[in-house]
Amino acid sequence: MRAIQIASLDGPQAAKLVEVDEPDGDGLVVIDVHAAGVAFPDALQSRGLYQYKPDLPYTPGAEIAGVVRSAPEDAGLNAGDRVCGLTMLCGAMAEVVALPADRVFTLPDSVSFEAGAGLLFNDLTVHHALLTRGRLAEGETVLVHGAAGGVGTSALRLAPAWGASRVIAVVSSEDKRAVAQAAGASDVVLAEGFKDAVKEMTGGRGVDIVVDPVGGDRFTDSLRSLAPGGRLLVIGFTGGEIPTVKVNRLLLNNVDAVGVGWGAWAGTHPGYLLEQWAELEPLLASGKVAAPDPEVYPMERAADAIASLEDRSAKGKVVVKLR
Ligand SMILES: NC(=O)c1ccc[n+]([C@@H]2O[C@H](COP(=O)([O-])OP(=O)(O)OC[C@H]3O[C@@H](n4cnc5c(N)ncnc54)[C@H](OP(=O)(O)O)[C@@H]3O)[C@@H](O)[C@H]2O)c1
Repeated sequence: MRAIQIASLDGPQAAKLVEVDEPDGDGLVVIDVHAAGVAFPDALQSRGLYQYKPDLPYTPGAEIAGVVRSAPEDAGLNAGDRVCGLTMLCGAMAEVVALPADRVFTLPDSVSFEAGAGLLFNDLTVHHALLTRGRLAEGETVLVHGAAGGVGTSALRLAPAWGASRVIAVVSSEDKRAVAQAAGASDVVLAEGFKDAVKEMTGGRGVDIVVDPVGGDRFTDSLRSLAPGGRLLVIGFTGGEIPTVKVNRLLLNNVDAVGVGWGAWAGTHPGYLLEQWAELEPLLASGKVAAPDPEVYPMERAADAIASLEDRSAKGKVVVKLR
């Protein structure tokens, strides 16, 4: 089969299209992959900068969508089923993958393979962030950093469905404004000066939740943008720097800085992914939440797809098409 492989830690351009053997699917769900999602960890991994470091050579990508070729009898899946699935941190960009049944989910007919390959990693992270860790309540307001990125567009799509009354997007440039608006933002502000813009928009009160996949030097202004009782959800550090927090800020304003580690939680809570999917799937199937609208790259340009997250040119979710 054809697969993308990275054989040296030289960055996204090390991702090459190669021929490899198909996986041994014994006891697993074997899937003919139509599309694979790209996420920020793929860019970090290609330089050996992510906490999880696969042995070389490895196939990048954490999520897929495709058609079941074969499944164990007790998997609840049949050959021909349209599915999406999690390889979790690598292995997705291959024409055939074999996954444990608890990481494979039936894709609603209304969701294309390209959209399906771009939804699990971010939507389940955002579900974990907003509901399990962030305690989002009906009528609350949410500010989303990196709002035109993968996690960001997920948060914009999902927060209103879970009760948010207003979702303010933060983007770095005017050309990303339209991406955030299309994903469902109520308002869009530029990263430069976002704190003052948010204060003005909220009549000085601030927001109840900040979704933060960026970190870096925005962190303190994010804490200052919270209303009393607010929660800052620490999701990632695309900005590069891991911020520190002076805890007196938490005390003075009665706010929380909340860690969000979805993969670690799923790994220690058996059945969690299935529970999450059971809450997300009806929203997608009914159209209450739109599926992602990803930028799609052909398999031959997988390296460019990964590079677009590193060089910050990606708009929305990025997906690689394999079939
Ligand atoms: N904690 C968890 O469980 C979990 C799960 C999944 C992902 N994550 C993390 O979430 C983060 C976002 O992942 P993603 O796949 O959504 O990434 P993405 O699609 O590349 O989006 C990240 C956004 O970060 C912003 N950004 C700010 N400074 C940047 C810089 N120096 N380089 C690149 N982007 C920069 C960009 O928006 P602007 O240009 O508009 O600023 C970009 O749209 C990553 O750190 C990832 O590891 C965490």
